[in-house]
Amino acid sequence: MKRILSTLFLSAAVLLPSAAQSSSALPQLGKDPIEKVIQAMTLEEKAGLLVGDHEFDKYKNGEVKDKVPGIAGTTMPIPRLGIPTTYETDGPAGVNIDARREGDSRTYFCTAFPIGTLLACTWDQELVRSVGEAIGNEALEYGCDILLAPAINIHRNPLCGRNFEYYSEDPVVTGKIAAAYIQGVQSQNVGTSLKHFAANNQETYRRENDSRVSQRALREIYLKGFEIAVREAHPWTVMSSYNRINGLSVQEHYPLLTTVLRDEWGFDGYVMTDWTRQLRNTALQITAGNELLMPGFQGQIDDIIASVKNGRLAESDLDKAVERMLRVIMKTPSFKGYEYSNSPDLEAHAVITRRSAAEGIVLLKNEDKTLPLTGAKGKVALFGLGSYDFLATGIGSGDVNNAHVVSMLEGLVNAGYSVQEDLRDMYEGVEDEIHISPSYATRRAKDSDMAVITIRRNAGEYKDRHNDEGDFLLTATEKAMLKNVSDAFHKEGKKVIVILNTGGVIETASWKDCTDAIVLAWQPGVEGGNSVVDIMTGKVNPSGKLTMTWPVDYFDIPSSQNFPHDFYGDSWRKDWKAYDPYKKNTGYTDYNEGIWVGYRYFNTKKERVSFPFGFGMSYTTFAYSDMTVKRVKDTFKISVKVTNTGDREGKEVVELYVKAPQSGMEKPERELKAFAKTRLLKSGESEILTMEVAVRDLASFDEGLNCWIADEGSYTFEAGASVEDIRAEIKSALSKKYTEKVLTRL
Ligand code: GLC
Repeated sequence: MKRILSTLFLSAAVLLPSAAQSSSALPQLGKDPIEKVIQAMTLEEKAGLLVGDHEFDKYKNGEVKDKVPGIAGTTMPIPRLGIPTTYETDGPAGVNIDARREGDSRTYFCTAFPIGTLLACTWDQELVRSVGEAIGNEALEYGCDILLAPAINIHRNPLCGRNFEYYSEDPVVTGKIAAAYIQGVQSQNVGTSLKHFAANNQETYRRENDSRVSQRALREIYLKGFEIAVREAHPWTVMSSYNRINGLSVQEHYPLLTTVLRDEWGFDGYVMTDWTRQLRNTALQITAGNELLMPGFQGQIDDIIASVKNGRLAESDLDKAVERMLRVIMKTPSFKGYEYSNSPDLEAHAVITRRSAAEGIVLLKNEDKTLPLTGAKGKVALFGLGSYDFLATGIGSGDVNNAHVVSMLEGLVNAGYSVQEDLRDMYEGVEDEIHISPSYATRRAKDSDMAVITIRRNAGEYKDRHNDEGDFLLTATEKAMLKNVSDAFHKEGKKVIVILNTGGVIETASWKDCTDAIVLAWQPGVEGGNSVVDIMTGKVNPSGKLTMTWPVDYFDIPSSQNFPHDFYGDSWRKDWKAYDPYKKNTGYTDYNEGIWVGYRYFNTKKERVSFPFGFGMSYTTFAYSDMTVKRVKDTFKISVKVTNTGDREGKEVVELYVKAPQSGMEKPERELKAFAKTRLLKSGESEILTMEVAVRDLASFDEGLNCWIADEGSYTFEAGASVEDIRAEIKSALSKKYTEKVLTRL
C-alpha cells in the first residue's frame, strides 16, 4: 500500500524556525553542512539534543502544547538552527497515544493491529510488511516521527510478561519478521526503534537484572534476530534495554552498542535508551553508544555538561552523537514539515487487521473436520468471559487506545449465527469466569447446535506471568466448564470448539483431548471476533503456524530452572533499594540452558511437547516434492514444490531446517534457517518456493575461538511443515570450512 509518499516528497521545505530573523545568519539543518550546524550549537544545546524533552515542566505546566498527547517521548527543538521537535510513539501493535484531548471534541483512536506474536505466526514477510505500512501510516498521520517498535526479544520462557509483543523462540523467524515490519513502517518515512537490545527476556526487576548469558547463546540466539533485522532493514533507531548483560549495564555497554551493533553489523542510525528515570553515568552512556537518553530530565543535561567540562566526556564524542541524531532527524516528517491529517484511514486499517490476523491464527486441533462450520448456521452456545469481552492486545506500552474490539459474540452474529440468549445475558457485565454446572451445560446442549468456549489470558509490561491457575494453568472453574460442556455436548453428538484469546503460551495437554477443535486466536487486534469467525467458517483457510513450542508441563522447559516465575513482588516500585543484586532470577538470571531454547531442546532431546514449533493445521493438505539445492557463490538456493492435494484453497508455510555435520561443538538436531509461504493455492495447484541460506548462516559460534564456524562436510536441508513433520530433504556439502571472526566478547 503505497500511500502519501508523493506528498512526503513535496518540497522538503524545512520548518522555518520561529526566530526567522536570526536564521539568516545561522546555519540551518538541511540547508547548510551538518558540521556548520554542530559548530553553531552551544554546549547546552548539544546536551539538550541528547536527552529526551517530553517530561520537562514546560510540557507539564502547559507552557509547551503537547502536539501529540500520550506520546512516549520527544527530542528537544533548536529552532534557531532549523532543528524541530521529533515525536517518538509506542508501540508494536499500533500507535499508543491518548484517544481524547482536553478541550477537543473529536477523538484520536488508533487501530489495535495483531500483536507481534500473531504477526510472526503468519510466517509471511509480505503480509507483515503491509501491516507495518499501515501502522507507519497511522503514526505519520497522527504527527509522529519514530515508532518504538518492533519489540523482538526471544521467547526464552513462556512466562515473560511481554512475550505478546515479541515474535518467537527462534532468531531467524524473529529477524526476518522484524525486517519486514521495519521495511513496512519505514516505507511511510516514519522511523522505527528496534527493541529491547538485548537479552531483556523478563520483566521482573528488568531495570537492573543481570542477564548472564554465554557468548554462544548471545550470538546464536539473543543477538541473531537483531543482527538480521539491522542488516536487512536498517532501522532508523535501536533502543538499548534496561538490563545488564554479564554484569555490565547494556546502556554502558560499548562492545554491544558500538563494536557489535555498529562495527560488526553496520548500524548507522541512533541508539535511544529505554525509559530510565534514574541518573546513570551519562558520560559512559554516550561513549558506549547511546545518542539519546529517554525519557529525559534536567539532571541528565546537567551531568552531560559537567562531564564535558571536567573531561569525563570528550566534546568530540558529544559531537559524534549529535551528528547521528541530526542525520535521523533530517529524515523525519517533522523535519520535512509533513502536514499530517490527524485522520488516518482507520477503516482501511481495520480491514488489514482482520485479514492479517486471520493469517496468524493457528488451528491447533480439528477432530473429524469439526471446522470449517458447514450447513445451516445454527445456534451457538457461547461460553467463557473472553467470548463477550475479547482481548485485542496486551498490557503496557504495547497496548493501543482503540475504539472497539469485535467480540466472539459479534463475530458470530456478523457471520449470520445466532447465539444462545440465556448465556449471552448471563455473561453480560460479569468480571469473573462463571461456573458452568453439568445440569446447565446439559440444558444448553439440548437447545444449541454447538459449543464455543473462549479461554482468555492477558499479560504485559512490568510483570512476568506465573505457573499458576488463571495464568499458565487453567482455573478450576475453567476446567469444570470445559469438562461439563464437553460431556454434555458430546452426549448430544454436538461439537465443542475452544478459542484461545491469549498473548502467550498456556498449558493445553491436560484438557485438549476433551475438545473437538482448538483455535489459537492470540490477541488479534480490533477485528478479533471477525478474524476468528472467518477461520471458523472457512472464509479464510487457517495457515498460521506456531513460532514457539507449547510444552506439556512448564517445568519441561529448560529455562524454567532460571526464571522468576515464582516472584510475586512488585519489581516496578520506585525504591530501587528493594533490588538485591545477589538474588537469583531477580538480581541476576543465569541463562544456564545456553542455546537449548525451545525446539532446539525439545526436538534434539526428543522430549514430549503438547504442540511443536512450526505446527499449524489447515482445512486442506499439501504435498512437498521436487526439492533441489544449488550453490550460487556464497549462497545455497533451495527449492521445493508445494501442491495443494486437498479440496479447498489454502496457503502453506514451508520451514527450512538444516542438520549440520556433527563436529566438536554440540549442535541442535536441526535449526531453522529460512522459511516461505505459498500464495493462495487452489485445490490441485502447485507453487515452487525458493529459499536462500548463506554459507555464513550455517555457522555455529565457537566461544573459544570467538568466531563463527561452518564445518566442511555434508549438510541436510529439510523442508518441514513443522519441526516434527519433515516432508522432504536434500543434501549438499561445504567443501571447505567457513570461519568468521567477531570483533569482541560481551
Ligand atoms: C517502556 C518500554 C519500552 C517503551 C518505552 C516508552 O519502559 O520498555 O518498550 O517503548 O518505555 O513507553
